[in-house]
Amino acid sequence: MKPSNRLLIQDKYFVPYLSEHQMYQRVKELGKQLATDYKDKKPLLLCILNGSFVFAADLVRSMDTVCQVSFLKYSSYVKDQSSGKTKDLLGIQGLNEDLKDRHLIVVEDIVDTGNTINQLLKELSSHQPASIEVATCLFKPSALKFDISPKYVAFSIPNYFVIGYGLDYDNYGRHLAGIYICDEDNKNDK
Ligand code: IMP
Repeated sequence: MKPSNRLLIQDKYFVPYLSEHQMYQRVKELGKQLATDYKDKKPLLLCILNGSFVFAADLVRSMDTVCQVSFLKYSSYVKDQSSGKTKDLLGIQGLNEDLKDRHLIVVEDIVDTGNTINQLLKELSSHQPASIEVATCLFKPSALKFDISPKYVAFSIPNYFVIGYGLDYDNYGRHLAGIYICDEDNKNDK
């Protein structure tokens, strides 16, 4: 018999992994840490669409500090597999803000292979910002293929495919308030 908390999204089952309350608590903590670290620095948060929209909204509201928020859009996942290639859909050239001498915080939903962040960090560095750090909701250290280490991480997780809290499978599941993992991953010890 199927457990009642299993969700069918397209052709895959997902089960709860991190609750809405856990997300709320941890993201609030992270926001407070950022507010302390960036006091008087007027950081510019560059939020990566689509996946970071929920995390970014919660994070920025827990940051009691003067900041600006802008959005970039990249895409590298096809269903549940990284294509390894990042498509620039709404890039840096579309930003209104000048990045020179700014304190930048890249806000990501998840750092998986690190390909997206690695490319973006290189591109951002060429604009001579005062500093760049990465704030990510989730981090899969065992999937990482690039020499990067996000400074602000809400949760490090095993190499599971996850949805919810803005993350999707085939563009579904973003609305879920907590994080869910693919039930097949849950059974295979990753
Ligand atoms: P990376 O370039 O491999 O680090 O992947 C970055 C992007 O892939 C993230 O911003 C997500 O949009 C997507 N992604 C990676 N892992 C997952 C996952 O487990 N669930 C949903 N999307 C994911």
